[in-house]
Amino acid sequence: MNDEESSLLKKVLAIETSCDDTSVAIVDCDGWVHQLLSASQDQDHEVFGGIVPEIASRNHSFYLLSLIDKVMASQDWSTIDGIVVTNRPGLVGSLIVGIITAKTLAQTKGKPFLGVNHLEGHLLAPFLRDSQYQPQWSYDLPFIALAVSGGHTSLYQVQGLGQYRILGTTRDDAAGEAFDKFAKKIGLGFPGGAKVDQWAQKGDAVAFSFPRALMKEETYEMSFSGLKSAAQRLLEAMSEEEIQTHRASLCASFQQAICEVLIHKLDRAVRLTQIKRVVITGGVSANSHLRALAEDWAKKKRVSLLIPPLRYCTDNAAMIGYAGVLRMNRGERSDLQMGPSPRILPGDFDVSHQ
Ligand code: KG4
Ligand code: ZN
Repeated sequence: MNDEESSLLKKVLAIETSCDDTSVAIVDCDGWVHQLLSASQDQDHEVFGGIVPEIASRNHSFYLLSLIDKVMASQDWSTIDGIVVTNRPGLVGSLIVGIITAKTLAQTKGKPFLGVNHLEGHLLAPFLRDSQYQPQWSYDLPFIALAVSGGHTSLYQVQGLGQYRILGTTRDDAAGEAFDKFAKKIGLGFPGGAKVDQWAQKGDAVAFSFPRALMKEETYEMSFSGLKSAAQRLLEAMSEEEIQTHRASLCASFQQAICEVLIHKLDRAVRLTQIKRVVITGGVSANSHLRALAEDWAKKKRVSLLIPPLRYCTDNAAMIGYAGVLRMNRGERSDLQMGPSPRILPGDFDVSHQ
């Protein structure tokens, strides 16, 4: 082994606290996930109908150390080569809990550490691997990525690690946000994306007509606020009893509108770039209808499609660890001045060709 190879990091401990999921993982530089443990706060925020930042950060403080103890129970610190933590974008109070913990571990255990961009984690999530999931190709080939979550909905052309060109993004609401707002209005609680998905399975997707925005325009941009308003108007015109009777078909029709827009934009990207490798990632990629439609589309268009298993779709520390260890092996390190940022940083993405 030469000096350069021996200085490469093999295994890292990763921490994700950017929003309301506390997550800790141990990941190898080839994407192998040794451990992944997460604590969901859904029940704590549901009563408020949305995420309450103060509650989120307090809960991270409560859960994080015990999750670290649990993932480290079967590991020796000498086998951990570095610490990775999400430091952007996200809720500042939540990010701080992860960052302070990562810095403290790095100092006390004598390990290098790195702050990473949460969205880069989502882009690499389909390339994680474990005993039940193996991706068919690697992140260093060019591919089109649809990252679709509660806070973000964007289409990227990825050329390799760190080379992320934004093709288009939502002009207003993220798709997950649209799912969550609709779920709340229809009485399914918060966050409701997964519940809309469940209800939709028993419904008729053409029973109600919802708008699909920016479908004819030659753009990668998306918009879901018109859909949200149309749904609100429809629900306001219905009685509580009618909503209950038609809940499954309302969910199926609403879900259909979002999924069709997403597949349409993916299709345009593949057509114009001629890149026939596609990943769909982020919380909304857990949607069973989106997965089914995407698989049919990919088969028809001879596209090689990767959608991570559900455990890597929603926020998790494994994807953060993988992004971090790859960057650390290119020599990147953070110092103790590193802090949280609510937004991405200049240079995180190339927006010049939008
Ligand atoms: O990636 P994620 O865990 O957090 C963010 O970075 O935002 O995504 C959470 C979002 C929420 O809006 C949630 O409602 C949505 O993903 N989601 C779903 C499903 N599972 C989670 N949306 C539709 N169908 C699902 N099965
Ligand atoms: Zn996320």
